[in-house]
Amino acid sequence: MAMYFDIDPEFQSFFRDLKQVFLYIIDDCNLSCIQCLYKANLTFQLKSKVIAVDDAVKLASDFHEMGASKLTIMGGEPTLYGQSEKWKPLCELIRAAKNIGYEYVRIDTNGQFPKELLEIEDFRKLDAITFSLDGPTPTINDSVRGTGTFEACVANIKHAVSLGYTVDVTTCVHRGLFGRDPHGVLWLEHHIHFAESLGIVAVNFHDLFKSGIPRDAWSGNVDITLDEWLAIYPEIQEKASSGRFGISVRIPQSFIHKDDFGRDPKYLGYCSVKTGDRVLVHPDGIIRVCSLMIGSPYGIARYYRGKITWDNSPTNEIRDHKLGCDTPCTNQGKDGRFGKYVPLCVSFKPKQEEFVWQKLGWEDRRTKN
Ligand SMILES: C[S@@+](CC[C@H](N)C(=O)[O-])C[C@H]1O[C@@H](n2cnc3c(N)ncnc32)[C@H](O)[C@@H]1O
Repeated sequence: MAMYFDIDPEFQSFFRDLKQVFLYIIDDCNLSCIQCLYKANLTFQLKSKVIAVDDAVKLASDFHEMGASKLTIMGGEPTLYGQSEKWKPLCELIRAAKNIGYEYVRIDTNGQFPKELLEIEDFRKLDAITFSLDGPTPTINDSVRGTGTFEACVANIKHAVSLGYTVDVTTCVHRGLFGRDPHGVLWLEHHIHFAESLGIVAVNFHDLFKSGIPRDAWSGNVDITLDEWLAIYPEIQEKASSGRFGISVRIPQSFIHKDDFGRDPKYLGYCSVKTGDRVLVHPDGIIRVCSLMIGSPYGIARYYRGKITWDNSPTNEIRDHKLGCDTPCTNQGKDGRFGKYVPLCVSFKPKQEEFVWQKLGWEDRRTKN
């Protein structure tokens, strides 16, 4: 099939193993979460705050042609996209993506939308809805996402489950989840059980460490320390990978001792820039690979007026990557702040049951347990 965009050959050859697309269709949001990585884009855009639906469909089509089979629609808050037109453009994008042939189309939302959205026929074509929920109680969740957000989000989760959607949640590992109840159980564990009780199929955790990247400047101060993480991660991961939680739990390892990295670099060295498995597309025309570069001038290419052009300037995010080598994450910890530990890719979540992780067969690279 012919491509809609005139695409730079360097771009095409870089993404020879493209699996997934993140379309950040809108740079507006109805919340202002303390930890938000997208804050810089929410605050200021010189020109475009949305990707026009025609462009969104064409980009989705071209990336599918290049191999992508998973599409994530996000933002900003994607349920604001055409909300005043009863979400016509959003539903058009979902319908088109399924017609184009995407196997897996999902939306990432804060869950604050009017519940009628869930009943629209084309919206129901989604393969999954991912709600962002940062705690199992209003106190914990609303401390980072804002007053009333827990109640609204959980009401929509329940409605979505009752309508038969596949529902998962994304959760940031913030300080509030690291507290313990009077019996000593981590609120993070309660959160997983709470998700299960709602009929959610998976919880996907994101870490919030300050690691010497642009977003450190605007992503609040609700992160936990490296020592706190190292003290509980092995236990949570062990429970998650041995199926003790009853639902799928994806949890980032985030760090490893320098010496241990050397024992399994092919597996531990996962990096989306090295695999070229994902592409992130933003309304301002920047195309990125690594989500750690969101809000910065760094990217890999630009799209505008029907063209995708490779970034040949110093703002190309891959310029300093050791593309052919299995290394720890080279975007984080450049200042040596983690001492004898090295950072891993934020998407490195051992044994995760995730569409692209499975397609890449990444667990097969593990040489030890
Ligand atoms: C930026 S939001 C955009 C989509 C939508 N508005 C939402 O809340 O899900 C996408 C996801 O990134 C998560 N997130 C926000 N700030 C983050 C940070 N500093 N590090 C990692 N993930 C973060 C959010 O909690 C959410 O699950």
